[in-house]
Amino acid sequence: MLSDLGHNVAIIGTQWGDEGKGKLVDSVSGSFDIVCRFSGGANAGHTIVVDGKKFVFHLLPSGMLHEETVGVIGNGTVVDLPGMLEELKQLSDAGLGNVGERVKISFRAHILLDYHKKIDQELEKRKGDRKIGTTGRGIGPAYADKTARIGIRCEDLLDIELLEEKIKQNCAFHSKNYDLELQPAEELEKLLSVREQIKPLLCDTRKFLHDEMKKGKTILFEGAQAHQLDLDHGTYPFVTSSPVSIGGICTGLGVPPQKIDGVIGIAKAYCTRVGEGPFPTELEDENGEFLRKNGFEFGATTGRPRRCGWFDAVATKNSIETAGIDIINLTKLDVLSGMKELKVATKYILDGKEIFNVPTTKKNFKKLEIEYKTFPGWTEDLSNIRSFDELPENAKTYVLALEEMIECPIRAIGVGADRDALIFR
Ligand code: GDP
Ligand code: IMO
Ligand code: MG
Repeated sequence: MLSDLGHNVAIIGTQWGDEGKGKLVDSVSGSFDIVCRFSGGANAGHTIVVDGKKFVFHLLPSGMLHEETVGVIGNGTVVDLPGMLEELKQLSDAGLGNVGERVKISFRAHILLDYHKKIDQELEKRKGDRKIGTTGRGIGPAYADKTARIGIRCEDLLDIELLEEKIKQNCAFHSKNYDLELQPAEELEKLLSVREQIKPLLCDTRKFLHDEMKKGKTILFEGAQAHQLDLDHGTYPFVTSSPVSIGGICTGLGVPPQKIDGVIGIAKAYCTRVGEGPFPTELEDENGEFLRKNGFEFGATTGRPRRCGWFDAVATKNSIETAGIDIINLTKLDVLSGMKELKVATKYILDGKEIFNVPTTKKNFKKLEIEYKTFPGWTEDLSNIRSFDELPENAKTYVLALEEMIECPIRAIGVGADRDALIFR
C-alpha cells in the first residue's frame, strides 16, 4: 500500500481527531526507520490494540512498539516531561525494555509546565459558554508562551540558573495576569527531578533527520489532532493551538516539503468531534447514540463522550485538498454495521450560495443548509473480512461513493481496532 508513496510518508487526520491515526502508524511503522511527532503535545491520545492488549500514546510516537523504530519528538511539540517519562515507564513495564534509548527529543521543543495546565483550565472557566472544551493539558497556554517568546525550551534544562530565572519571571507574569497562585519553586523542583533522565534524550533532531535521510533511512510523520483542528485551517477558535496539518511537518521538524513524498489521510467512516465548536453533520438522536456506543466513542485522553455525526464529504474534501492527501485510510467501517441507512453531507449552502469550509461564526453556522445523499445500510459483521470483494454489496457501494465524493482513492479500510484489522486495496 505504501511502497508507491515513497521514502517519507505523512499520516494526517482529515476530520476533528480520533480518526484512528495511531492504529495506522503502528500498522505501517515496521516499514519505516524513524517515526516523528511534529506538533501538539499530550492532548493527543493514539490507541493501538495488539492481540487484544491496548496501548495509548500521548506524546511518544505510536511506532514505538516496533523494537527497531527510532522515535523523534520534534521542535514543534510542547512536551510534558514527567508525563512522557511515565509513558516510557508503561512501555518498559509492558516488557518493551528501555524504549528511551530509541527516543530523541529536540533541544528546541518547548517544555509544558504545570502552570500552563492551570491557565488552560482558568481560561476555559472564564469563557463560560464560549469555552473551547480543551483537553485541559495546557496546550494553548504553552504555545502562547512560545509565540510571545517567553517559552522555556528543552535546551534550557542545561542552564539551571537561566531555567530558574525564566520560571520565576513567567510565574510572576502569569500570576498577575490570571490572578492565580502559581508555584515557581515547585515547577523548578519538578524539572530538576527529571533533568538527568531527559538530558541523554535531547538532540538536534533537525540535523539527525537530515543525516539519516542522506543515509537513505525512511521516515513516517505522525500527525496528531487533525486538519479541521489546525490553528489556521480548522474551525477557529474551536481548534488546537499549533499547525497540526501538513505545514506543521516543515516547521515542527525542519524538514522541507520536497522531502514529504506521500501523504495518507485518515478519515472515519462517520464523523466525531470532542469538545465544543461547529459540527455540521452532528446527530443528537438515536443514530448518534448508536455510533457512540458501537464505536466506543469516548476520548482516549479525557474520557469525554465524543459527539457523533454522518460522514462529511465537504469538510473531508477541504482537508484532502489543503493537506495534499494522496490516499485515504477509511477507518471504523465495521461500526456502521446494523444502521438501517447512512447519510453523507455532499454540499454546504449559505445564503443561497455553495461554500467549501465549515462556517465558524455562530450566526453563519445557524444558517447553514446541508445537502445529504442517503445510502442503504448492511447488517453483516465486517471484523473478520480482509478483502474488499468480501464486503457486503451495500458497504462496497458506500465506500466507492465516498471515494468519488472526496475525489481521493480509499486504499485502506479499517474493520476493527486490532493492528491487523485492515483491508488494503
Ligand atoms: P487517533 O487519535 O486518531 O489515533 O484515534 P483514537 O485512538 O483516539 O481513537 C480511535 C479509536 O478507534 C481507538 O479506540 C482505536 O482502537 C479504534 N479504532 C481504530 N480503527 C478502528 C477500526 O477500523 N474499527 C474499530 N472498530 N475501531 C477502530
Ligand atoms: P488526537 O491526536 C480529538 C480538541 C479538544 C478541543 C480542541 C482544543 O487524539 O486525534 P487543546 O487541548 O488542544 O487545546 O483542545 O481540540 N483536541 C482533540 N480532539 N483528538 C485529539 O487528538 C485532540 N487534541 C485536541 O477536544 O476541542
Ligand atoms: Mg485520539
